[in-house]
Amino acid sequence: MSYQPLAIRHQSPASCSSDLLQLWMEQCREQTLALFNAVDHETFCHQAHPDFSPIGWHLGHIAYTEGLWILEKLAGMAPQFPDYRQLFAADALPKRDRVYLPTLAEVKTYLSAIRTQVFDYLKTAPLDEQRRLWLWLLQHESQHCETIAIVLALLSTHSPTHSPTHHSAEAHGRSPVSHSPVNSRLEIVDCRVGRSQGEMVEVPAGHFDMGNDALETLDNERPVHRVSLNTYWIDRTPVTCQQYGVFMRAGGYQDPRWWSPEGWAWLQANPVAQPLYWKEDAIWETHPVCGVSWYEAEAYANFVGKRLPTEAEWEKAASWHPHRQQRQLFPWGEQFPDRDRCNHHHHIGHTTPIHHYPAGKSPYGCEDMLGNVWEWTASWFAGYPGYQSYPYRGYSQAYFDQKHRVLKGGSWATRSWALRSAFRNWYHPHVREIFAGFRCAQD
Ligand code: AVJ
Ligand code: FE
Repeated sequence: MSYQPLAIRHQSPASCSSDLLQLWMEQCREQTLALFNAVDHETFCHQAHPDFSPIGWHLGHIAYTEGLWILEKLAGMAPQFPDYRQLFAADALPKRDRVYLPTLAEVKTYLSAIRTQVFDYLKTAPLDEQRRLWLWLLQHESQHCETIAIVLALLSTHSPTHSPTHHSAEAHGRSPVSHSPVNSRLEIVDCRVGRSQGEMVEVPAGHFDMGNDALETLDNERPVHRVSLNTYWIDRTPVTCQQYGVFMRAGGYQDPRWWSPEGWAWLQANPVAQPLYWKEDAIWETHPVCGVSWYEAEAYANFVGKRLPTEAEWEKAASWHPHRQQRQLFPWGEQFPDRDRCNHHHHIGHTTPIHHYPAGKSPYGCEDMLGNVWEWTASWFAGYPGYQSYPYRGYSQAYFDQKHRVLKGGSWATRSWALRSAFRNWYHPHVREIFAGFRCAQD
């Protein structure tokens, strides 16, 4: 699936007109519905994984959330479809009970009934007082659509012809061990000298301004605050399948030396031997590894003698302009994302090789910071000093529990409205279904 460029991101969301807002909402919705083009009712209702709701639930929840915040809270209207609250509110049903759903056609009727009234209301809405909420909703739909894309990927991954957790290289007619231990050792050495080969960049000690308080940002990105860091090194690109393959072939999944005690316990309880979205084909070797848990990322980093970057280290490398001593919204500056700068917004529909977007480089020289794959960081998800929840406590604050790790940067499936250097995503460390890889850092 491919979308045409949105030739309309030249205007700052913070001052968008109601016409532009409406256009964005229409474009976002068109892309949402396109995800359902080839979906049958069974797929619509199927729970592919205990941590994820069926795609049909996400679609209904998008309509419910728009009706709740715009029609009920802003316009003061009574709920239009009171029966759908119990089904589609985030706090109503446990995920396993979200499988009894109306048909796609019925949910589409629900979506468009809400939409018609929402746009009616927008015609005379006091947008200057409400823009933040409207922009939040656009990102809310965007985020649920990435989750829909994840569930669709899981469904195709679980089909009998492609079962990555159990298939090995033999399934593709190859020898499972294509490198002798000696070769693996040499490759490990290669990884360790990465610095001198320019695979890492140095970020000299000093402060930077972390976070983003533009109107469109979410509660957890605010407020902007100054952070001082020691000198560190960070990988220029995300870890590729080729690099990760060295860890796999060196027996990384069988060797407790590389794993933290929690990571090893997770691995014993979930005996996997490759990333969830692993594809055993040379053409993927230059792509970032995708579909790893935080524990797998941590183990790989230990294996190559590095570590995961903290969120602050990641964000400084992505957003700080050292000569101007200024924060930038995007690695390349202030221009909103487009398809020449990063792999996002389903423009391509899967990962791209590293070095594919030289125009997307940050001032420190890091590539692929936005788009392609989300990147795990060493940091727990927590509020910044002075954090204030918006639009409801449960949006971020409920996850400030020292149980969720921060991911940065967005993936190939992240819509442009939710793509910026300060944007924060969070998941439990065991989650490997999201489109996530990582890059490493070093003192
Ligand atoms: C930030 C992607 C983890 O999907 O659970 C959507 C975003 N919060 N509706 C999620 C979210 C409420 C959230 N993530
Ligand atoms: Fe939601």
